[in-house]
Order: sequence, then structure tokens, then C-alpha cells
Amino acid sequence: MNIHVYPNDLEASAKAAGLIIEQVRNKPDSLFSLAAGSTPLKTFSLLVEAVRQGKADFDQCRFASLDEWVGLDGSVQGSCRQTMNDHFFRLVGILDKNIRFFDGKSEDLTRECADMDSFIEGNGRIDMLLLGIGLNGHLGFNEPGVNPDLYSHVTELDPITKQVSVKYFDPPQAVASGITLGLRHVMEARTVILLASGSHKAEIVRSAFHDQGSPTERIPASLLREHPNFHLCLDQSAAEQL
Ligand code: GLP
Repeated sequence: MNIHVYPNDLEASAKAAGLIIEQVRNKPDSLFSLAAGSTPLKTFSLLVEAVRQGKADFDQCRFASLDEWVGLDGSVQGSCRQTMNDHFFRLVGILDKNIRFFDGKSEDLTRECADMDSFIEGNGRIDMLLLGIGLNGHLGFNEPGVNPDLYSHVTELDPITKQVSVKYFDPPQAVASGITLGLRHVMEARTVILLASGSHKAEIVRSAFHDQGSPTERIPASLLREHPNFHLCLDQSAAEQL
């Protein structure tokens, strides 16, 4: 586990952006999966800036979604797809053919999962995964107690996730379940970055990653301690209890 702690969110985000830019330079046709949510937004801005300056080029890359709220698709403000469109995909001109995103509105979510698993398998495996962490330690929608052997699946949302979800939606959305890549995708990804910032994340960061902790699916993020190529990028506030 490589732990990087920076004085502020912008510098932690710059570390994550730097790792992504290095990845795409080394392997221009990389398969990425990038979390939506609030945490990576500064990283996305830095990536957009790098593309505009000619320092990065994602044209040959492919993107698998990490997760989506069941019942929502890219037409809904606050959905994962719309966040990615507005903050990254559209700003750097990623073509739809290079994106495989969960459709949370699909009537056949089992098929959505199977299609995602085939897409990733068809590309080998995920080259680089950028994650956030939920206040309950979730990764994507891999909620506490998740079976770590799963690939893509649909899950009921943890009460904490439902509570936190209100920050994404205006008007509010009644979300009850999510569709997500599984922890097997996470553990099989060549490189995983987890970005966390703010003192509200300090307690869960400590629970998941402090020295004496053991990996447990009760705190899904803690399983990353066993990933062979894992970067934990924190600002000082998120690291304050480590
Ligand atoms: C959300 C998403 C995750 C995200 C995490 C942290 O519910 N399912 O993909 O990484 O929780 O979100 P945020 O960055 O907004 O704190």
C-alpha cells in the first residue's frame, strides 16, 4: 500500500491526476474505471486541463463505469453517468463507443451486469481504477458485508449510503439500490487509486487503513490493503486519524 498525504485536496487530486496521466502515456489504449461522486471532481478538472494543454490524450482509451443508482440514467442530474459526462467525458471528447456505462434504468439489470463483465473481460482487465470511499467504507456500491468474490452485481443500498445520497440530487431522488462493479474487478485491476479528502472521511480512512487493521468485507475499502498496486491519496484532513 502506497500512502500519499498532501496538505490539501488540490495536491491530493493532482497526485491522482498525475498517476492517470502517466498511465495513459505508458499505455494509450488503457481501460479505466473512474468513480463519480464529489471527491474526484478536482482530479477531473486537472485531467481536462492536461488534455487542453496537449499533455494527455484519452482518445484511444476505454472507460467502464464504476457504479450507478438503480432507476437513474444519464438524463438525471446527479446520476453517476451525468457527473462523468459533465466533468470529464464531454469536456475531453470521449466518444460513446469507448464508454461502457451501467444503465440504472434498464429493465434487465442482470443483463447490464453480464454485459459489463464481458466488456471488461474483452479488454483483459481494468488497467487503472480511481475510487472514492463511502462513509461506511464502501467502494462503488460494494456495501459493508459484500461478497468479495462478486463481479458486477445489483445491491440494496446501506442506510448510510441512502442518507448521503441526498447531496447529489436536486430535486431529490428516492434511491434504494445500486449497480456496481464487484470487488473482484477492484482486486483484479492492475492499479487502484483511492482518493479521500476532508475531515468527514478521517474516521473511515482510519478504520480501513490504520496499521493494526485487518482486511474485512465489513469495511470493503480495507480489502485494498491486499492489492499489489494500490495508491491511497489523502489530504491532511482525511489522514488526520491515521
Ligand atoms: C458514492 C458512490 C461511490 C463514491 C462514494 C464516495 O455513493 N457510490 O462511487 O466513490 O460514494 O462519494 P463522494 O466522493 O461523493 O464522497
